[in-house]
Amino acid sequence: MAQAKIKQPRPIIIGNWKMNGLKASVKEVRALDKAAKAAGRVGADMMICPPATLISTLAAAAKGSKIAIGSQDCHMNASGAHTGDISAEMVRDLGGKAAIVGHSERRTDHGESDAMVLAKAKAAHLAGLTAIICVGETEAERDAGATLRVIGKQIKGSVPDGATSKNTIVAYEPVWAIGTGRTPTLAEVAEVHTFIRKKLVARFGDDGAKIRILYGGSMKPGNAAELLAIAHVNGGLVGGASLKAKDFFGIISAC
Ligand code: PGA
Repeated sequence: MAQAKIKQPRPIIIGNWKMNGLKASVKEVRALDKAAKAAGRVGADMMICPPATLISTLAAAAKGSKIAIGSQDCHMNASGAHTGDISAEMVRDLGGKAAIVGHSERRTDHGESDAMVLAKAKAAHLAGLTAIICVGETEAERDAGATLRVIGKQIKGSVPDGATSKNTIVAYEPVWAIGTGRTPTLAEVAEVHTFIRKKLVARFGDDGAKIRILYGGSMKPGNAAELLAIAHVNGGLVGGASLKAKDFFGIISAC
């Protein structure tokens, strides 16, 4: 019953800009800050993960605001001969506070395995970044009734032993819901989030009840409130609807 006594973690809404955004996109950060300040009390923490090229610019623009900036990936090594890659320390050096690791687009496009995602999460922790670890089943896996088995395996294989509620966020993103406009039913989301919570508590005890579990996949202002009201949904990882401050703040306002 220890779990019932622990209060729900404060939600966080994280925008994943993917490969979108140029220097001019800094205006979206300014607009988001303006909207948040005008609203007064905001019910969620806010973070934007732009392409690596914009981390520095956006971190400078977000200074003095409640908006944190993160990256969409980091390398598993601290430095070395890895052309084109970016280390967690470099992200931190630019003003980043977190790194998304194991996004399904990276698992697919770059063949990232659970072991690689685990190593990246460890590298993020070592550099003082929060690791935002993504898991999620494909449509075929859901159709085959394998959703919980797949998620269980990914959680076991991608979340490091050193994970705490301070340095780790888990994001559940059904692959078939990303960028498609489709979302699972509320009951399906609830089932997976409850399952992830149980796994985290079994492994990390009371602190596992405080690790934030985000839902991601076609979250938008119109469906955010009902998704965010589900038990163990402690925020959202938002792609398309994070690109415009107005839509993104619409989701934040639902918290
Ligand atoms: P989407 O993307 O909100 O555009 O579906 C979510 C994500 O991939 O993080």
